Amino acid sequence: MPLLSLSFLPEQAAVASKPVDSLFIYLIFISSFFGLLIAAMIIFFSIRYKRKSESDRPKEIHGNNKLEMLWTIIPLIISLTIFGWGLVLYFNNYRPPAHALEVFVVGKQWMWKLQHPSGPREIDELHVPINYPVRLTLTSEDVIHSFYVPAFRIKMDAVPGRYTHTWFQATKVGKYHLFCAEYCGTEHSKMIGWVHVMSQEDYQKWISERTGQTPMLEPGASALSEGEKIFQKYRCFACHHAAAGALGPDLSGIYGKQVKLLDGTTVTADENYLRESIKTPQIKIVEGYAPLMPTFENILSEEQIFAIIEYLKKWNSGTLPQDAEGTQSA
Ligand code: CUA
Repeated sequence: MPLLSLSFLPEQAAVASKPVDSLFIYLIFISSFFGLLIAAMIIFFSIRYKRKSESDRPKEIHGNNKLEMLWTIIPLIISLTIFGWGLVLYFNNYRPPAHALEVFVVGKQWMWKLQHPSGPREIDELHVPINYPVRLTLTSEDVIHSFYVPAFRIKMDAVPGRYTHTWFQATKVGKYHLFCAEYCGTEHSKMIGWVHVMSQEDYQKWISERTGQTPMLEPGASALSEGEKIFQKYRCFACHHAAAGALGPDLSGIYGKQVKLLDGTTVTADENYLRESIKTPQIKIVEGYAPLMPTFENILSEEQIFAIIEYLKKWNSGTLPQDAEGTQSA
């Protein structure tokens, strides 16, 4: 498709690249068509209807319904095609497949810190397998940054105090530029890096060289060891268990559930809620419990909190039944 590989566009290296480019080219085509049409008509009319003498008076007109309908309906239809097309792309690009590889991204003046589900961490470099969806969860330790990989056509803000998400599926082995696309201070322009797309075998080798384990690139299988280790280390299960007299709410199946709070309101236990409840547990107290939990604000890093949340998710999905002693039974 020669039209879609125009040289001014970055390389197409992800599933989303071509569809995004097609819409972009469609927008350019429509804008240039009408831009040129309007410019040509301005020139033509100013010559054609130039006032010839002082007494020259144009004929009075009182509107033209046909013409007005035409210039309302045609642009409406064109705008709706842009809307519909954009909507489809938006949904595709913001809803990752359920089995995606989870990578955690922290923006920090002035670097990108990346963590793989199985443990390895990287700075300003990200290694990913080809033809496999990768879901990024982003946050920031200071100001707003923006994770931008032109070849994948993704750009997502990393915002302090909350999680944002994006995903991609690389289609070509290679090395692609990673930028920060939000001015974030004096060294913003140096906040750059690389995304390395590797074959799935190479990726597995790369991970196993660092962890001693071979990651499973299969639906639902990602290493949980990080989050589980932290959960055990801080003895979270000592309070959070299902038995009578527990000091904290039972966390099995917590992810995605509706949680009733002391003040009568209800919240969904999503990633942002879980993160807040680990960092500052006093803000939202679950109904029936006392505000006993200490804050982990300065104890756990963003990476560790993310690992715990990933752990709770898997626990929830039933793939990891576990009793209050923290021993895995599956
Ligand atoms: Cu980080 Cu610009």
